[in-house]
Amino acid sequence: MPQIIVVNQSGEESNIEAPEGRTLMEVIRDGGFDELLALCGGCCSCATCHVHIAPEFMDKLPAMSEDENDLLDSSDHRNEYSRLSCQVAITSALEGCKVTIAQED
Ligand code: FES
Repeated sequence: MPQIIVVNQSGEESNIEAPEGRTLMEVIRDGGFDELLALCGGCCSCATCHVHIAPEFMDKLPAMSEDENDLLDSSDHRNEYSRLSCQVAITSALEGCKVTIAQED
């Protein structure tokens, strides 16, 4: 099972198991990171599951939809490594990926 590294808003790193087939949002939320609010439950309508992905993993992610892109635009903390974690399915390609929970808007 892939392991990912989650960096919380204080900069602390934790390794968590990330079963394939779940979303990044689900594994972070279920890993006990309350900072990842994920208010819409993964419907791509809230942007409170915003994360920054390690640069070297950006090309291993599914393409970004127009909805995700629009929602990310509403965040002051968007950068080139931003994704909504509910739109990223876990695959073995994410083994060792570092994911930083974005600061709250
Ligand atoms: S959980 Fe709401 S957009 Fe991801």
